Amino acid sequence: MAWQNANMSTHNTAPHRFPWHCILITGASAGIGEALALACAAPGMTLHLGARNASRLAAVATQCRVLGAEVEERIIDVRDRDAMVAWIKGAGRLDLVIANAGIGAGSDDGLPESAAQVREVLAINLEGALNTALPAMEMLKNQAIAPNGLRGTIATIASIAAFVPGPGAATYCAAKAALDRWTIATAPFARNLGLQLTSVCPGYVRTPLTAGNRFPMPGLMDAGPAAEIILRGVAAGKRRVAFPWWVAMLARIVGSLPPVISTWILSRPPGKQKMAVD
Ligand SMILES: NC(=O)c1ccc[n+]([C@@H]2O[C@H](COP(=O)([O-])OP(=O)(O)OC[C@H]3O[C@@H](n4cnc5c(N)ncnc54)[C@H](OP(=O)(O)O)[C@@H]3O)[C@@H](O)[C@H]2O)c1
Repeated sequence: MAWQNANMSTHNTAPHRFPWHCILITGASAGIGEALALACAAPGMTLHLGARNASRLAAVATQCRVLGAEVEERIIDVRDRDAMVAWIKGAGRLDLVIANAGIGAGSDDGLPESAAQVREVLAINLEGALNTALPAMEMLKNQAIAPNGLRGTIATIASIAAFVPGPGAATYCAAKAALDRWTIATAPFARNLGLQLTSVCPGYVRTPLTAGNRFPMPGLMDAGPAAEIILRGVAAGKRRVAFPWWVAMLARIVGSLPPVISTWILSRPPGKQKMAVD
């Protein structure tokens, strides 16, 4: 069996720690997606890695191959629904699908985001994640049950931003809130199909996405440790993996305040930079 072979790895301990053999990751060319791919790379593992930037994706794929994984690269835009269906359905057995691709954008001039930016953030961070999760559910529910008792697992990378109405990143917060809510609410019925759905809500992680932020980022961590927390939480079967816990707790408290107070607090620091999409 494929997962038995994976357990014989001596090069990297990933297959011992995680119950997956075949993993698909969107947004694998940088940041958290890259760190997730590297954390899973080991002999006996098959990684399907997707992103738009061919050279950056190739560099990540090469590192994963050096660690012993078999890697399939796919240059793909998560907004291309048909291409996503074809990729996911054509990948063969998948134990874990991670809808990670996303962009960061907001407003740092005290004015609302442009219509183009609102649509772009929703198209990538919400629809793009659904373009990954929905065909994955269709595919994974027909797979054989693995030794972990599941037909497959889908993790969506939302954010702690899902818990707050941040004026400096309004559409980002909205997209992540919708993704988190959809994942959490769908999980119980997906479980009836033998599928695990997990919503991942990281705090601030040091990646190209946060490199341009000009405000304090409490609890900022490197992508490697963040990937470890994510993979351990998903492997443990959690419905939601939100970290660091104290940042998640603070966000929950601020998010539960009356809107006029929470948005006043959240608009004190400068917002995320606007995108050049107008
Ligand atoms: N960093 C944080 O503090 C943080 C916190 C909470 C949640 N998150 C979430 O974690 C995920 C990864 O973020 P990150 O910080 O690792 O960002 P990042 O370093 O900017 O990486 C984003 C990845 O997504 C890919 N991507 C972007 N748009 C895409 C598209 N249309 N189609 C396919 N791939 C696309 C990028 O690759 P290409 O450009 O090559 O396509 C890249 O591989 C995002 O969903 C983000 O919202 C991040």
